Amino acid sequence: TKVESKPQTANHTVVGDLSEQIKAATQETHVRAENTDLMTSFQKGQITRTQYKVLLCSLYEIYTALEEALDRNSSHPAVAPIYFPQELDRTEALERDLEFFLGSQWRSKVIVPAATHRYAQRLREIGKVKPELLVAHAYTRYLGDLSGGQVLGKLAQKAMELEGKDGLAFFSFPGVSSANRFKQLYRSRMNSIELSEEQRREVLQEAVDAFNFNIQVFDDLQKMLSVTSESAEKPKGTSRSTPFPPPSSVQLTVGLCVGLLTVGIGLYNF
Ligand code: HEM
Repeated sequence: TKVESKPQTANHTVVGDLSEQIKAATQETHVRAENTDLMTSFQKGQITRTQYKVLLCSLYEIYTALEEALDRNSSHPAVAPIYFPQELDRTEALERDLEFFLGSQWRSKVIVPAATHRYAQRLREIGKVKPELLVAHAYTRYLGDLSGGQVLGKLAQKAMELEGKDGLAFFSFPGVSSANRFKQLYRSRMNSIELSEEQRREVLQEAVDAFNFNIQVFDDLQKMLSVTSESAEKPKGTSRSTPFPPPSSVQLTVGLCVGLLTVGIGLYNF
């Protein structure tokens, strides 16, 4: 379904509620996110344990950064209205899932690609210098989890033949009795945030960026997995493993090869 473009005033001020604008602004990238290989595996009910485990690792780094940024800014006027740690926090759920899949030493086994570090880095940065943009990231993850996430949880359970709820805490929100009603509340809280026109435009841009960060994480995870899979294509991207510093053009090629190798070795231990 096509969302009509929003009316604009003479000086190009976008009008309407933030919740509607943000949905319209991210509609295109949402489709791209849905169509990534990783999300397609999910939707086809073909997600493998390895895919799911590396996804959990990245989500853990992302939610740790997101929730730390929200906590540290919980009384900021642009964060307080959408601050729902009790209902939404995912960090602890992810810890339980990772322990289930990777065992009690899970912390030493967490492996994430470069895109995940970049995403978490952006979250930490805006937590420090532009907390008014956090709503864009909280919206992108939490409203997504409360929307498609519920169906994905069932598909994951079936695909991995999991008995009961073990390993699926990420998908469950015990503090939210109706996802739809909670989403309504969340939207009205978003709409109550006072933003200048400039800030509003920045929030919309940040939401598009947030979707793109997610897409890059999914793509990097697939590349990472293709290193260990015989049938997969040779990766051509720039995934690097955890121990590497930010990219330097000189070291990029070497870093890429060594990084992929390290990730490959790490995955065999999964
Ligand atoms: C398998 C992949 C996905 C499927 C099948 C899916 C499906 C859906 C569905 C059915 C909705 C509800 C739409 C509505 O109520 O109007 C939704 C909403 C949403 N999704 Fe996804 N989604 C997927 C991936 C993602 C990803 C990767 C993200 C971001 C990281 C995301 C973020 C969102 C957000 C923020 C909303 C709320 C939109 C709004 O009401 O403003 N989704 N999704």
